[in-house]
Amino acid sequence: MVTLLDRIGLLVTNDPAHGGPLGEIRDAALLVDGDRIGWVGPAAKAPAADARVDCGGRTLLPGFVDSHAHLVFAGDRAAEFEARMSGRSYDAGGIASTVGATRSASEEELRARAGALVAEMRAGGTTTVEIKSGYGLTVRDEARSLRVAAALTEETTYLGAHVVPREYAGRRDEYVTLVAGEMLAACAPHARWVDVFCDRGAFDPEETREILTAGIGAGLGARLHAGQLAAGPGVRLGVELGAASVDHCTHLREEDVEALAGSDTVATLLPGAEFSTRSAYPDARRLLDAGACVALATDCNPGSSYTSSMSFCVALAVREMGMTPAEAVWAATAGGARALRRDDVGVLRAGARADLVVLDAPSYVHLAYRPGVPLVSRVWKDGRPVV
Ligand code: NIG
Ligand code: FE
Repeated sequence: MVTLLDRIGLLVTNDPAHGGPLGEIRDAALLVDGDRIGWVGPAAKAPAADARVDCGGRTLLPGFVDSHAHLVFAGDRAAEFEARMSGRSYDAGGIASTVGATRSASEEELRARAGALVAEMRAGGTTTVEIKSGYGLTVRDEARSLRVAAALTEETTYLGAHVVPREYAGRRDEYVTLVAGEMLAACAPHARWVDVFCDRGAFDPEETREILTAGIGAGLGARLHAGQLAAGPGVRLGVELGAASVDHCTHLREEDVEALAGSDTVATLLPGAEFSTRSAYPDARRLLDAGACVALATDCNPGSSYTSSMSFCVALAVREMGMTPAEAVWAATAGGARALRRDDVGVLRAGARADLVVLDAPSYVHLAYRPGVPLVSRVWKDGRPVV
């Protein structure tokens, strides 16, 4: 079945073969052939198709690629958020309460809740999502979380090193050995990536190196959380180990910026976390001006960023982080794909996946210009309409 999406007012391809910062084509058409894109170009040159969809002059862009989300959990932490909004600060200590609720939940409940979040994301235009474990922190509960994640996405991440669980207080070296050994062995068959929260109050650089190196040895790609709460050696360690992405990057030293700029490691910024913890935003401008590759993701989780909306993150990045609308839209699509080392998503060219979003707006600029407005009107995933 070949379908022509016609009368696209503005097509954002992210393919530098076309014009503008986002490879834009005006008055465009796009051919969907099975689960792939068959052709893109000016509407006047569109090939024949079995069916036609009239986009009515709207904007069409690649589906958002959300490369950082923690969707397997039970309970919520609205009370913690409320306390923060009356002055308490965020220190990641609340993770333990989500760990307790997650361990007590059934696998069916975890599957239903994570599935509902993925559906919420799809409705908001996200067609690729990475999903982490990290609220189980036992061999059984981490493996279970990854089974739930793997039923929803190919981009699964083992985050046994989220925090040291309470039962290992005073025995953190034993927990690190477990995470890098038996727990990794149980989780690696269900995971593509290994992640460590390398920050104040979580894991130190030596522990992080041990766990990431073990994960790489088990065939997983590396990524990490660093620079959320304090600057430290995590960012440079990620670059040194060839991590696909270092995420948060809120607190950076000059040498961190230089290391990112001189590498293939993406700096993934998560402005929902600063919004929800009422903290200073990362400086995207500094990273972009230095030549680093920047991605945007939601960090969707019940503690520090309970949003599933990439549009919201784009708006925050433009308003608060010095990004232009074009830079933010690229970061939320092609940047996320780069952070997951994918070349079949985040771009609209022949052969790429037909993962598409129609915005009820004349331009992608409206994502930032009209914050909070549900502009995503249609979504295709693998060539099939899902919204
Ligand atoms: O990315 N930083 C560590 N992990 C999450 C927060 C998890 C939580 O607070 O439950 C984050 O912000
Ligand atoms: Fe996170």
